Amino acid sequence: MPSVRPLFVVAGIGDGSGTGAATARLFARSGYRVALISRGPDYLNKLATELNQAGAEATAFPLNDYTPASIKSAFASIKSHWPSSPLRVAVFNAGYGVWKPFLDITEDEVRESIDTNVLAAFAFARAALLEFTKLELETPNDGGVAGDARKRGTLIFTGATASIRGNTTTSAFSAGKFAIRALSQSLAKEFGKQNIHVAHSIIDGGILTDRTKSQRKDPSWEANQDVRLDPNSIAKTYLHLVEQDSSAWAWEIDLRPAHEKW
Ligand SMILES: *[C@@H]1O[C@H](CO)[C@@H](O)[C@H](O)[C@H]1NC(C)=O
Repeated sequence: MPSVRPLFVVAGIGDGSGTGAATARLFARSGYRVALISRGPDYLNKLATELNQAGAEATAFPLNDYTPASIKSAFASIKSHWPSSPLRVAVFNAGYGVWKPFLDITEDEVRESIDTNVLAAFAFARAALLEFTKLELETPNDGGVAGDARKRGTLIFTGATASIRGNTTTSAFSAGKFAIRALSQSLAKEFGKQNIHVAHSIIDGGILTDRTKSQRKDPSWEANQDVRLDPNSIAKTYLHLVEQDSSAWAWEIDLRPAHEKW
């Protein structure tokens, strides 16, 4: 364990039962300080308390909205909270989903999709990359959490089936998700040369969260790991991305349960 713990930041915690929260829990257990960015201060504070009670160092940085100004100010607060902790991992897991026939989609919903899925992703990436570019490489002997990964940092974007395929009700949602994929590929190429690892993760299938459980009310779906994604399993893959060494980096991964039709 390095003397100064590295910092992990995740945006998009939802109700604390999905990918963002599971990833925060796993990175906390793996020795990172954890900065939680999200709307919904109640869920955020609850997760921070849970992590701190488990012996981690976690702090909630609640946002009113996902505007670039709010994201910039959250990163400034993180920096003043932990001035000596190097930011090594940033996960953009925030999103705005709208599934409606095209003619029913309002201008506000289109704007919200662009604001949260695109503008916020740009602002988050900018803030994280400004930190990563200042850091030295983690090398085999410095005891860094990422070991011999030879990277300055890892930036992961959570995508969806709609990142690569439009469908009948996804015009606004997939426009946003396609944009994040294009952003992440561009960043992977631009910043790879500085040993900054940018990855895009396509989550292709239903994720087991409190919300999907209450929507489906189907105990057999909940119980059968072959048919739905477990957020803890997604988190394991995110940690694996962070641990990949610089001779074999994945830009894109896609994850789906064994029995998913695709
Ligand atoms: C596309 O939408 C249809 C109708 O809602 C749905 O049955 C199908 O599973 C969707 N396809 C994908 C790849 O999500």
